[in-house]
Amino acid sequence: MIKMLKEISEEPEVLRRIEKGNAETLDRLSYAVRDSGITNVIFAGRGTSDHAGIYGQYMFQIFCEMSTGLATASAVTVYGAENCYKNSLVIALSQSGYAADALEVLKAAKKCGALTASVTNDGDSPLAKEADFSLDCCAGPEFSVAATKTFTAELAIMYLLALRISGIKERGRLLCAADAVETIIKDYDAGIKALASKYKDIKDGFVLSRGITYPIALESALKIQETCYIKMKGYSVSDFYHGPLAQIESDTVTVVYAVKGKAENDGIGAADRLVSIGNRPLVVTDDFELKDRYENVMLVPDCGDEFLAPVVLATFAQLFAFHLCLARGGNPDCPRNLKKVTVTR
Ligand code: AGP
Repeated sequence: MIKMLKEISEEPEVLRRIEKGNAETLDRLSYAVRDSGITNVIFAGRGTSDHAGIYGQYMFQIFCEMSTGLATASAVTVYGAENCYKNSLVIALSQSGYAADALEVLKAAKKCGALTASVTNDGDSPLAKEADFSLDCCAGPEFSVAATKTFTAELAIMYLLALRISGIKERGRLLCAADAVETIIKDYDAGIKALASKYKDIKDGFVLSRGITYPIALESALKIQETCYIKMKGYSVSDFYHGPLAQIESDTVTVVYAVKGKAENDGIGAADRLVSIGNRPLVVTDDFELKDRYENVMLVPDCGDEFLAPVVLATFAQLFAFHLCLARGGNPDCPRNLKKVTVTR
């Protein structure tokens, strides 16, 4: 079996075990954050792990009322600005745990007294050892160059940690998301394969979303770039209106995420605007009412929580990239020019 598909198929079980696997650390870390009075969180990561950090930004701002930012690692590694993480929680995300730039950020953060945490899939990795609190993806070894189940795990950890810090009860929503992910893998795979076959000859395109699903637009584009060598770019719909929209022609490939919740209307607005200028977006939604509104609609399971919809969309995006790659005659496990672990400073 192709590794990427095998690892996607493990996602429901990862989601089912992740809370238990991290319960004690989540409790200690959330207590430490509340006790310290810290109101600012910085996320450090690259590629897919960076996208999980962006999801974390939304979760921490919305649920914990904390300000958030992304670490600009070169400020530390190139310019030596080591004293810029005072009074912060710094969370380094790296499935391998070998992200050298995130490690430097973590070390700088510790030097100036910040609280530090890592999210990795290897508890013996340098990042996990350096952090004050080490959270575990509980995903089992991941071999495919395209990260899949570890992204799901990173999202779930961000979700759980933000809720813990805010004091809001989780109430089994992650288990519902696990069921929705299982449904998409088992019952939607054929539909996604057919969709991929329809789009197999594309050369470039855009993935658009807003709010909590914006990081999945970025991640979808990355998955397609690395497995299919297609020039996909993810945007927040708001940013898209500020220039990139001018590139749209009638045959430009556009994918719009519009899932139920507070940002759904922004997705619908983007799709409507694309239609109004003669474009034919693919709208990916868990809202059955949108089924006939557009020419191209992909329905995904509704997991019952808009803040976990990104987990379901991520699985859709991974399966779509996987099938697109196969339809184009590629091998998703071995993208050209890439290795599983990329170390940058
Ligand atoms: C993911 O599909 C990519 N291969 C890549 O962007 C990866 O996420 C990035 O290199 C970060 O890796 P890490 O999580 O092991 O630090």
